[in-house]
Amino acid sequence: MTPAHPTDSAPDRARFVGWLREVAPYVHAFRGRTFVVGCAGELIAAGRLDALVHDLSLLHALGIRLVLVHGSRPQVQAQLAAKGVESRYSRGLRITDAAALACAKEAMGAIRLDIEAAFTQGLPSTPMAHARIRVVGGNFVVARPVGILDGIDFEHTGVVRKVDAEAIRALLDAGHIVLAGPLGYSATGEAFNLTMEDVAAQIAAALGADKLVLITDIDGVRDRAGTHYAELTVAQAENMLAAGEVEADAAYNLPYLLRACRQGVARAHVLPYALDGALLLELFTHGGVGSMVTAEALETLREAGVDDVGGILKLLAPLEEDGTLVRRPRELIEREIAGFTVLEHDGLIYGCAALYAWPEATMGELAALAVDPARQKDGAGERLLKRIEARAREQGLRRLFVLTTRTAHWFIERGFVAADVDDLPLQRQQLYNWQRRSQVLIKDL
Ligand SMILES: CC(C)(COP(=O)(O)OP(=O)(O)OC[C@H]1O[C@@H](n2cnc3c(N)ncnc32)[C@H](O)[C@@H]1OP(=O)(O)O)[C@@H](O)C(=O)NCCC(=O)NCCS
Repeated sequence: MTPAHPTDSAPDRARFVGWLREVAPYVHAFRGRTFVVGCAGELIAAGRLDALVHDLSLLHALGIRLVLVHGSRPQVQAQLAAKGVESRYSRGLRITDAAALACAKEAMGAIRLDIEAAFTQGLPSTPMAHARIRVVGGNFVVARPVGILDGIDFEHTGVVRKVDAEAIRALLDAGHIVLAGPLGYSATGEAFNLTMEDVAAQIAAALGADKLVLITDIDGVRDRAGTHYAELTVAQAENMLAAGEVEADAAYNLPYLLRACRQGVARAHVLPYALDGALLLELFTHGGVGSMVTAEALETLREAGVDDVGGILKLLAPLEEDGTLVRRPRELIEREIAGFTVLEHDGLIYGCAALYAWPEATMGELAALAVDPARQKDGAGERLLKRIEARAREQGLRRLFVLTTRTAHWFIERGFVAADVDDLPLQRQQLYNWQRRSQVLIKDL
């Protein structure tokens, strides 16, 4: 018997279509953007490279410009162990002697070949069918030695000194995925062992990337009490680090995310490789699965501008279709945009409401109140209502009314009371649609 397909039953089909539609705004928002993805060597050691490559090939197909930076820590470790050489660390950094450097070079070569092979697979009926992706590596990273710290010579351990952003950009422009690893070369022609996190963060900063994503062995940023943070602003993260509140593994990753953000990367994420599809979940769902650091708070409740018309139309369309809201053509919304308030998260509009003033009657009309179904029941509707009430008060209006066919109880629970068409401003009475027979509800402000 063939196993059940996720679209075999009607509810499954509806859910599948719903998911795809939910993803559409992100697809639009991400096209042509540059993401730098750093994957820890542990991901490769855990046998998850193919899955990551499948997900990256999907992002590539969606028009996202990708740089993949891989780590090699466990691979170098394994090589050293096989040769009976002891690994030495200080301050969380490997001390790279000649033997360790040889292992780092070998590990990097082997990983690179595995990545190139994974991007080349193209069997039918796999996520890589028709993919035809070119991955291109090169000498993009100039390194310098860490030097001697606390009397300890780190030898061939280095840090990123410069990134050849121009070369990387040219390759991205040509449609390639750019590959980089944790080795860099100095002006004296030597190779230096770097950390994947340093390389990824510096490349992201040099490119002015839209996102830096580190896929590592932690599930995001947690504080010492174990609380997980899905979103943090730079200021919040800096305060937590300074107060020693960040759990140890996250405290290692977080400074790289912060540095990237401070240097102009809009968002920096850390995700667990242990969760299959973590990259897709983080990018295409509202809450994500890891932690995201942003220069500024992501969630805003603000007055709308012309750039928001598209987002508002998308939000209202299904509600107009099913008759919950009256139809408003694009031109009307464009004309009346100044009366709209929107709720935005990470650049996407997910709630809106409009205020129309009837100054002669000192009344305001609340209209087009809508919250994306995926984000309802979280107080968003209430926050929009409060903002509209505040805007009405600022304009000297004394009462707010709403005409509704299906949402009367929601408004009644928030202080509105039933009224008659006669209670509306005179001009509004003339516009009342007797076929729609909406209920009139009024609230004193
Ligand atoms: C009405 C709406 C804006 C509320 O948004 P929201 O972000 O979920 O609002 P809140 O989180 O502040 O409130 C959620 C509460 O309202 C309740 N609610 C939602 N729709 C309701 C309705 N039509 N009638 C009565 N209560 C309703 C929810 O059940 C929830 O209460 P609960 O948690 O006790 O179950 C949203 O449901 C929506 O967009 N609806 C479709 C458009 C619409 O009807 N607009 C008003 C036209 S004038």
